[in-house]
This record gives sequence, structure tokens and C-alpha cells, in this order.
Amino acid sequence: MVKVDGSGGQSSLIQVRDLDKTYSRGGQPIDVLQGLNLDVSQGEFVAFMGPSGSGKTTLLNLLGGLDVPTRGSITVAGDEITHMSSSKLTEWRARHVGFIFQMYNLIPVLTAYQNVELPLLLTKLSKAERRAHVETVLSIVGLADRMHHFPRQLSGGQEQRVTIARAIVSDPTFLLCDEPTGDLDRKSADEVMALLEELVATHHKTVLMVTHDPLVAARAQTTLHLEKGVLVEGKKYSGEIAAGGGA
Ligand SMILES: Nc1ncnc2c1ncn2[C@@H]1O[C@H](COP(=O)(O)OP(=O)(O)OP(=O)(O)O)[C@@H](O)[C@H]1O
Ligand SMILES: [Mg+2]
Repeated sequence: MVKVDGSGGQSSLIQVRDLDKTYSRGGQPIDVLQGLNLDVSQGEFVAFMGPSGSGKTTLLNLLGGLDVPTRGSITVAGDEITHMSSSKLTEWRARHVGFIFQMYNLIPVLTAYQNVELPLLLTKLSKAERRAHVETVLSIVGLADRMHHFPRQLSGGQEQRVTIARAIVSDPTFLLCDEPTGDLDRKSADEVMALLEELVATHHKTVLMVTHDPLVAARAQTTLHLEKGVLVEGKKYSGEIAAGGGA
């Protein structure tokens, strides 16, 4: 169940209420989010669309505890994150959120295996346990045979799949993806999307993804549009397809 009118019940995994985010630039306030509501249940795959500057990244950053709202609340699995101290929030983020960005953000001097192992170095897992987790997720993303390659020895699509492996290795509550296919060709984008779909269908992950690409958004179960600071449901994006692919 995905709702944008604030009517979701206690069963929502993610519950956002009356969220405002105002930045100030040169003394001028910029109201980005204005009274935004959102409910997402476990196992949902939601795509966020909207024009550049509409606040999509701002929303993901708030949901992932990377930024704090001006007003309103965000509750995830019963924890209200909007009032946590920054050290508590850091701990919460490590436990609950897997981030996947447009730029892969892999560490170039580490192999695929070492990049994926990184988040686990902060846990109490033994080396053998870490190895088991890393090998499992690298095989989920189809890169078991590339684990000792460095990022520069991988294609863009493979790098993004390593990023996904790194995001899921600590078994987070949900995944936040900001234009995960933005830098990929159509075929690699399709592979990344197939993988995200599989994570939802087979591994019951909850995925919230920002995209500009209507074909990518169509792979999610629900598409929400960010307009004038709030989310709007069920908008057709045939107009965007016509505008983008017209010439
Ligand atoms: N740290 C900041 N300080 C001031 N203004 C900011 C800051 N971060 C974002 N903004 C402004 O907030 C608005 C929303 O930005 P945001 O990055 O969320 O948009 P977006 O929908 O992700 O856009 P895009 O599709 O281009 O990535 C923009 O007007 C942006 O200039
Ligand atoms: Mg953005």
C-alpha cells in the first residue's frame, strides 16, 4: 500500500507526515517540500518522478536521514528519525538504509569484494561471516566471477551492480536509489532494473527510487510525482515520453 494523503495506518513501514523542507539561499527562503505525506508498506517498489529542482533528491535525503526536515515527521519501522541526535541517526542509517546513487561511488583502489565488504567492517561479524555475506550478495547481483576485479575493470552496469550489492549486504530495511540508471545505456539500465525487481519480488526488499526515465519508472509498482512540494499519485507520463523521444 502506497498513500500520499496521510491516511495510511500504523502498518506502514515508512510514514511521512506534513513534511516541509525550506532551504535558504542568499537570505531568500526556497520552499521545496510543503506538507508532504507518504506511506509505504514493506515490499513496495515506488518510483518518484518530477521536474529537475522539484525536490526528489531532497526527499530521498530526508528519508535516509542524511538531512533534517524544517517541519513534520518521518517514521520508519516505528522509529521516528526526525528527532534523533546525529550520532543516533548515523547508527540508524547504517542499520536500516541502503543507498544507491547515479554515480557509483565505489572506492577505486578496492576490489568489488572489498567495496561490498566495507559496510560490514563496522559490524561485529567475523571475517568468515563477512565473506559469506559478501559472496551471497555478489552472486545475487550476478558478479560472483568478478569479485576480485577493481572498479575500472568493470563496465558501468557492473559497477552499479556492485553498488547494489554493497547497499544490500547489511540487509537494510529499505533501499533509496537516486537515478540509479542515469549514467547507463538502455541494456545496462534494464539489467539494473531487473535486479531491483528481483530484490523486491524474491527478497521482499522495499525500494524507493528517483528516476527521470519513464521506462525505468514503469518497472516500479507505483509511480508518484513530486509537484509543488507534495506527491501526486497515478499521473500518466505519456506527455514526457512524447516530449523526450519526439525528435
Ligand atoms: N543545500 C541546499 N541549499 C539550498 N538549496 C538547495 C539545497 N539543496 C537543494 N536545494 C534546492 O532545492 C530544490 C530541490 O533540489 P533537489 O536536488 O531536491 O531537486 P531534484 O528534484 O532532485 O532535481 P534533479 O532532477 O535536477 O536532480 C532546488 O531548487 C535546489 O536548488
Ligand atoms: Mg536530484
